Amino acid sequence: MLAREFSGEADVRSLFIAAIIFSAFPAGFALAQPAGAPVLDETQTRGRELLNQYCAICHLKPQLGAETYGPPLTQATLGGDAVALRDFIGHGTARMPGFQYAFKPDDLAAVIAYLKTVPAPAPQAH
Ligand code: HEC
Repeated sequence: MLAREFSGEADVRSLFIAAIIFSAFPAGFALAQPAGAPVLDETQTRGRELLNQYCAICHLKPQLGAETYGPPLTQATLGGDAVALRDFIGHGTARMPGFQYAFKPDDLAAVIAYLKTVPAPAPQAH
């Protein structure tokens, strides 16, 4: 009876299905807090939401090993310089839209506050 309800095979199957559903939604993936991630304050949480909404498509990896269109964004991006970040994100480039009109100054500040919590990846061996 118990053995049937908690059949290991069914558990593995539903985990597998959950993993597929989960990985189909990049934003959901990025929203998951990995163990040991810093606890975010209200501003940083708002910044993370904005990043997931407006920047994820180019800057966040939906899956391990997937390439992104834009470079990874971390606390090391542009030397972590808030003024340089605000300028860059506000104006954009030929390949990236500027957000100076889409975002209120508070929104931009929130995104930058969140970026400061994202650890820089270890340098990759090529
Ligand atoms: C359409 C794709 C796209 C979107 C959307 C986008 N970016 Fe970018 N971003 C890029 C590309 C591509 C680059 C690399 C610079 C270049 O090639 O013009 C870049 C570069 C950057 C850089 C400089 C990185 C570095 O290491 O020099 C920052 C900071 C940045 N983006 C922040 C953001 C933020 C914040 C958002 C959302 C508010 C965003 N981007 C949305 C494509 C995008």
